[in-house]
Amino acid sequence: MRYPSRVKLVDVGPRDGLQNEKQTVPAAVKIELVHRLQAAGLREIEVTSFVSPKWVPQMGDNAEVMAGITRQPGVRYSVLTPNMRGFESALASRPDEIVVFAAASEAFSQRNINCSIAESIERFAPVVEAARAAGIYVRGAMSCTVGCPYEGEIAPERVGYLAGLMKGIGVQHVGVADTIGVGTPIKVQRALEATLAHFALDDVSGHFHDTYGQALVNTLASLEMGVWQFDTSVAGLGGCPYAKGATGNVATEDVVYMLQGMGIETGIDLDALIDAGQYISDFLGRPTQSRVAKALLAKREASACDAV
Ligand code: HMG
Ligand code: MG
Repeated sequence: MRYPSRVKLVDVGPRDGLQNEKQTVPAAVKIELVHRLQAAGLREIEVTSFVSPKWVPQMGDNAEVMAGITRQPGVRYSVLTPNMRGFESALASRPDEIVVFAAASEAFSQRNINCSIAESIERFAPVVEAARAAGIYVRGAMSCTVGCPYEGEIAPERVGYLAGLMKGIGVQHVGVADTIGVGTPIKVQRALEATLAHFALDDVSGHFHDTYGQALVNTLASLEMGVWQFDTSVAGLGGCPYAKGATGNVATEDVVYMLQGMGIETGIDLDALIDAGQYISDFLGRPTQSRVAKALLAKREASACDAV
């Protein structure tokens, strides 16, 4: 078995993480988090979403956050756009990439974006066309590819069906998401296989929430298939307001540590990443969800004590 020699991580913490927070996170804190992530070596950051502020008030400062970022050459900034209204608002913020998001489960599609899977594809088609005409890269997120909070287990055929629809409207890359973190390695591999029937290996990524503690092993199972792009979230932030009980994404720190140990290149400085995670965890007033960050912070503290 050959693992990829290089992996690209997209930190989705500012969007997936902070969309789910009860407390208000000021735009200045989100901007600082993005700055710290890019300084740590992240080359793509999912910054915010242009969704209805009535549905997700936490992302209501989308334009302010995008305008406040000092862009670093070589870093891509992506945003979620659920419809033409969102895309038109996003355009002024000059994203490098937009994300249209659908679900493999009908019930989740209704709860999350208030329409059926078929209707969502109809809505996305003009968004994809307009984005590509403007030279903006289009990623698709596919939610509930192994399990749904309302429908239970999801068959790989339904993932394949959605991937085919995404491909049909011109989506360039798809993320296979385990929204509620129920997946286990073989199930995740089946969802990826169903997707790979429609998209090339280089155009597929994994997006694993860690609710059941399976996200790291699901990442490894994806690497075994040659998948080399993943969405991860600093400090393990994350969740979806319409997927009750789902916890954060796999922590970026944990994935970086695993990849470093396997000799796989990420371009990320783990120490600087841990500092970025500490910054947002301190603001939120709770410990990081990253096991690696906890371990390395404890080690730092112990060596600081030894030095005194
Ligand atoms: P709707 O209510 O059906 O939309 O919502 P509508 O077209 O009927 O419009 C209703 C009102 O919303 C109107 O305003 C529109 O102008 C406004 P009013 O006339 O009542 O004043 N509106 C908007 N405002 C701002 N930006 C927009 C926009 N669109 C309409 N883009 C809609 C449909 C899709 C908008 C809504 O359901 C929505 O915003 N849903 C977003 C839910 C969401 O953000 N979920 C989390 C992100 S997905 C996720 O986390 C999963 C992922 O991480 C992968 C995984 O883990 O699975 C990606
Ligand atoms: Mg998610």
